Amino acid sequence: FYGISQQPSGIAAPAAAAQPAGKLTIIYASQTGNAKGLAESLKAQAQAAGVAVELFNAADYKVKQLKKETHVLIVASTNGEGEAPDDAIEFHKQLKAGKAGKLDGLHYGVLGLGDSSYEFFCQTGKDFDEYLQKAGATSLLGRLDCDVDYDAAAESWSQSVVALVQDALQADAANDVAPVVPLTQGAVSLYNKKNPFAAELVTNQKITGRDSDKDIRHFEISLDGSDLSYQPGDALGVWFSNDEKLVDTLLALVELAPETSVKVDNEPVGIREALINHYELTQGYVGFVQAYAELSGSDKLKALVEDKAALREYCASHQILDIVREQPAGLTAEQLQGALRRLTPRLYSIASAQAEVEDEVHLTVGVVRFEQDGEPRSGGASSFLSDRLQEGGQVRVFVEHNDNFRLPANDETPVIMVGPGTGIAPFRAFMQQREAQDATGQNWLFFGNPHFTQDFLYQTEWQRYVKSGLLNKISLAFSRDQQEKVYVQHKLREQGAEVYAWLEQGAHFYVCGDANKMAKDVHEALIELVAEHGGRSREQAEEYVDALRSAKRYQRDVY
Ligand code: 2AM
Repeated sequence: FYGISQQPSGIAAPAAAAQPAGKLTIIYASQTGNAKGLAESLKAQAQAAGVAVELFNAADYKVKQLKKETHVLIVASTNGEGEAPDDAIEFHKQLKAGKAGKLDGLHYGVLGLGDSSYEFFCQTGKDFDEYLQKAGATSLLGRLDCDVDYDAAAESWSQSVVALVQDALQADAANDVAPVVPLTQGAVSLYNKKNPFAAELVTNQKITGRDSDKDIRHFEISLDGSDLSYQPGDALGVWFSNDEKLVDTLLALVELAPETSVKVDNEPVGIREALINHYELTQGYVGFVQAYAELSGSDKLKALVEDKAALREYCASHQILDIVREQPAGLTAEQLQGALRRLTPRLYSIASAQAEVEDEVHLTVGVVRFEQDGEPRSGGASSFLSDRLQEGGQVRVFVEHNDNFRLPANDETPVIMVGPGTGIAPFRAFMQQREAQDATGQNWLFFGNPHFTQDFLYQTEWQRYVKSGLLNKISLAFSRDQQEKVYVQHKLREQGAEVYAWLEQGAHFYVCGDANKMAKDVHEALIELVAEHGGRSREQAEEYVDALRSAKRYQRDVY
């Protein structure tokens, strides 16, 4: 049916020893675990449908193996600027280079995860689709490109693809179904993204100075009473609600009464309530502009929809309210609801270690605040935590594990941490952990922010660690304290010989913070310093850095 090779007829092999007539292979390329989670649920669905399944992290899957497969599903997320997740970079590279060979016996499906506010939306999924097509493989069904609120779309795609695979494999596999193994997920908390824990906000403290351009907050949240646990490197998912004033202004513009009834998850609620708790208002997104261009008939928005690059830029600088203001139009509640996308929680790198803070979790959050049309505006979760929630109030949270950002297993291994701005967060967790464990490995922090007097986050803590000997080196880049900008990558280059010496001694290298510019510039600085101080050509230095990454000695948490 799908071109699966038949078993040779003739002597029937005993069932127990038979070659599986066909199996499904699922490969995930995951950065923070969303793709992995979807792949695991695909596996469970396929097994429930009687399909034999093998599940692989792309890091553990050899591209050459694809030749031997008949049915493969790939679940792939995309990193910041259209890159594959760290674990999948090698797999992606080899597939791109055609190392899989001819794949005309292969049937495949690709589910991509991404964020449509980025230019290279779902790029990794698109790449895999393209490379497999090129190799001659046949697509089982159209690729799905999921945006941040992916649950419903992913669920229906999964059902369809599992049904297709089941049809194709079942006849052959009927006698050969692998035993249905329950999903092993280790200790799974009762609380997760869909069922978050209502935690108490214990502390809300501004940690930038009075004269700083930034409002960066230190939050302490209590996980007391939950069974939630986390490791340094993990992130905390934070659900939030929108500003009521913003919602009221929007409702007035589209001429809707606040109590107009709508359905959310099949429950009737007033539209005001729905907008406060369930829909994304503090970002612009392509789907809304497209829908609202039609609903309002705005020529400007209609023209914008045709120009991808301009549209993206417009979305980045316009909230839902601003888009509606282009040409306010009366809407029905269903029209408004249909154009909006569901609220998604924000993920923050955790800034504490449980070895130090026990049942608390700490965050370092830059509060998004700006002025638009002379009105104060704010972001979603950051202003919820800082302005709309009182200390003692409740915030719904869950833990997002991130195995791609972990301290070395060996306490003696040195670490180099590059975390400008709020990128400092996980390194505070790393140091708390290393102190609690009496880890003997050397520690080196690179930190940067605009001004020493205003923006030196957690200054006294770093000073204490330097004094105690835990933090062996600290390199600071206060970008605006002198004429010329100084950034962490400049400090890295300056200290290149020693950074290289640390790497040669087995140091792990971590980067957290801005994906757009900083992480790229730091990556470049790393390659250059390896070339210069390791006596390597550019190409050899790139290979050295690739090898660091493959060995999980170069890890990034960038956003
Ligand atoms: P700037 O705002 O003065 O340009 C944290 O945001 C710090 O990162 C700030 O000091 C900021 O400097 C700096 N920064 C801005 N662009 C950067 C880049 N490309 N690489 C590294 N740091 C950068």
